[in-house]
Amino acid sequence: MELARLSPSDITHAIEATLTQRCTPETLFERWERQRWSIGQIDLAADRDAWRERVSHGFRALMSTKIESLVIGEYTAVDHLAVIMAGAPAESYLAYLATQSADEALHWRFVMRIAAEITESETTPRQHLARAWRAANPGMRALILHETDIAERLARDAHDYQLWLQLVAIFHLITEGVLATTGQRAIIRLLARRGLFPGMQAGFSALARDEGRHVAFGLHALREGIEEGYGDAIWDAVERVVPAAVTIDVVPECGALERALAHRAGQQLIATLERRLRSIGADPGFILHICARGAAALEAALSPHEDSRRM
Ligand SMILES: [Fe+2]
Ligand SMILES: [Fe+2]
Repeated sequence: MELARLSPSDITHAIEATLTQRCTPETLFERWERQRWSIGQIDLAADRDAWRERVSHGFRALMSTKIESLVIGEYTAVDHLAVIMAGAPAESYLAYLATQSADEALHWRFVMRIAAEITESETTPRQHLARAWRAANPGMRALILHETDIAERLARDAHDYQLWLQLVAIFHLITEGVLATTGQRAIIRLLARRGLFPGMQAGFSALARDEGRHVAFGLHALREGIEEGYGDAIWDAVERVVPAAVTIDVVPECGALERALAHRAGQQLIATLERRLRSIGADPGFILHICARGAAALEAALSPHEDSRRM
């Protein structure tokens, strides 16, 4: 619960500092030992009362949507981590990935507990996932389907190191390093602004700190892969998913305000993507190309004529 007392910007700075430190799997394992937490430590009693009595319907609807998308994200993380572990190219990677696997299971259970006790959408995990999938927008679905396709191909040949790096590029760099870190910070800011949800704030802060370690591992593994000559495969994987990733907040047939918010969110994602690519040593020309590709995809998805073109 001490984490609930940190400001959102303190948490952001701490995570971004981790990402500039060039951590190894060994140092990340040590951090994991020091930073462990459990769902049972989180007290949600005050959050439950505030949710029922002190916030607007609009706030509840917004948070419920964010929790739904986290249910899918954390479940997918548990699922795909198993494949990434099976293909781990070194023992030190495997030991670190086992800690991440435990984290993702914890995150999934935590967001399921929030759904059951706060947003009161309790169902079985299977029903919950089906509902969250139906509610997912096109960008989110396209990204998950692409990540799942690579994961299934890797499951058939766990020792395909090039495919392993491509899954790490999509999972650790894009899904976690760009989308999850940005999305979780938005949730922490929303909660901190209300000042009414100490349990959720503590839990999401702990979760965001864990994600910082996960992204740090991805950056390390990708730098190694680039060093070993697999850069083109990594850039190819990034290029394929960027249009879906930057349009993750675009809801079809939405109004002007939603379009403006999705545009701002997409621009933030592109800025984060640029930072992540720079940190693994991507060529400046490639970074410019990817950011322009992301910006073009965002404009196209937000075009008022986009819905009629799809029909
Ligand atoms: Fe997670
Ligand atoms: Fe993660």
